[in-house]
Amino acid sequence: MTSDRSRSSLPAGYRSRQLTADDRGALLDLDTWAFPDPHAVADFDELPLPLTWERAVGVEAEDAPGGGLAAIRASYPFAHFPVPGATLPTAGLTWVGVHPQHRRRGLLTAMIDDHLARCREPLSALFAAEAPIYGRFGYGKAADDLRISVPRGAALRDVPGAADHTVRVEHGDRASHGELVARLHQAPGMPAGPAGINRPGWATRESEALWESYWADPKSFRASGRESLRVVVVERDGEPRGYATFRRTMDWQVTGPRGTVHLGDVVALDAAAARALWGVLLDLDLMSSTDPFLLPVDDAVMSLLVDPRAAGARVTDNVWVRVVDVPAALAGRRYQADVDVVLGVTDARLPENAGAWRVRAAAFGEASCERTEAAPDLELDVRELGAAFLGGTSLAALAGAGLVVERSAGALAHASAAFGWPLAPACGWVF
Ligand SMILES: CC(C)(COP(=O)(O)OP(=O)(O)OC[C@H]1O[C@@H](n2cnc3c(N)ncnc32)[C@H](O)[C@@H]1OP(=O)(O)O)[C@@H](O)C(=O)NCCC(=O)NCCS
Repeated sequence: MTSDRSRSSLPAGYRSRQLTADDRGALLDLDTWAFPDPHAVADFDELPLPLTWERAVGVEAEDAPGGGLAAIRASYPFAHFPVPGATLPTAGLTWVGVHPQHRRRGLLTAMIDDHLARCREPLSALFAAEAPIYGRFGYGKAADDLRISVPRGAALRDVPGAADHTVRVEHGDRASHGELVARLHQAPGMPAGPAGINRPGWATRESEALWESYWADPKSFRASGRESLRVVVVERDGEPRGYATFRRTMDWQVTGPRGTVHLGDVVALDAAAARALWGVLLDLDLMSSTDPFLLPVDDAVMSLLVDPRAAGARVTDNVWVRVVDVPAALAGRRYQADVDVVLGVTDARLPENAGAWRVRAAAFGEASCERTEAAPDLELDVRELGAAFLGGTSLAALAGAGLVVERSAGALAHASAAFGWPLAPACGWVF
């Protein structure tokens, strides 16, 4: 892939510069302009910033030197972002914001083009503050997640071995739990999948700064009356097999206490540990419901609940993926069925991705992707390739919306089967 990608420039009157740790105050000020927050910037003094500063860029108005930032963006250098059957280097786009004074002048567009031009990773991924923003830049909605609220005491199906676990309920801190959380979070198949099948999108925090931020517990995090960070660990034969982080809120009603358990991670190495963990989380005194933050759409709890309807499941978009380097990305994942297909790809922003690509792979084995003169079997935009990349969005479903076009009879069914994956993609934390 060539690297001299053209960059759309900033609108007249603006210039960009790399940010450093000295820009912390200006960055937080811009961030709280973009994302309104009840706290003053000074309230964040105890908050460690998880940024990789070399990848943080600010935009300033040229006629307002020292007048604050007009826009910011940064990216996390994920070296091992999970994709079907493998991991790929991925730029996690984050901290994107434009000051309301400077919006709708093309600053975001210029920042994204610069991000894609500088991207050395074959993928870029992000969480979108608003879903309509990023499709125009070639990002596809690659995963959904579940939002549920489970009534206290909801019945769970039995799993042999669940009763063999012991439980620790403790204040959460890095010294006590840092090692076990880091280890269990990145085990294959998490948050509760079978070992041996990875979960696409399940990024772990790869940098010290991100872990430091994960364990930080400043007062500004305790919005809406939440308590400090707590951890449940389930152990079998003295070995941790699962953990969950949570913060409770209290709500005293005349009819009785109606507190809520707000969950963070819920991670278990096997089905018995998941059953033991959820058994604890759904039966905490004075609580009336347990609310996970986000879960994969196929999370084990939905199969364990006797009455899954009572959890009131809603689905929302999780991680968005932008294929930056088509051949490296398509050869870098695995496929769940044999495949030999020619994809005709369009890409308005990165023209080197456009054209016909032949993808060949054996089920769960090595894959290749080469440019070809052959006629495409399927045609799609790079945005749809991103949507399908983690295996969570079916090419056939996209064809149903007219977004993938089948040119060779039968190619759609075969390619859709191959591009899928046994576990639904999801990232367990918003970056
Ligand atoms: C979203 C945001 C970054 C957009 O920045 P911006 O500099 O105004 O964007 P641009 O001027 O480059 O707009 C590019 C295009 O995207 C569209 N767009 C921008 N924000 C949009 C939004 N929230 N919803 C729908 N479309 C949007 C613009 O209308 C424009 O469309 P056009 O090319 O058809 O005219 C900015 O409004 C912002 O900071 N919002 C609050 C924080 C936020 O949501 N950050 C994103 C975090 S993931």
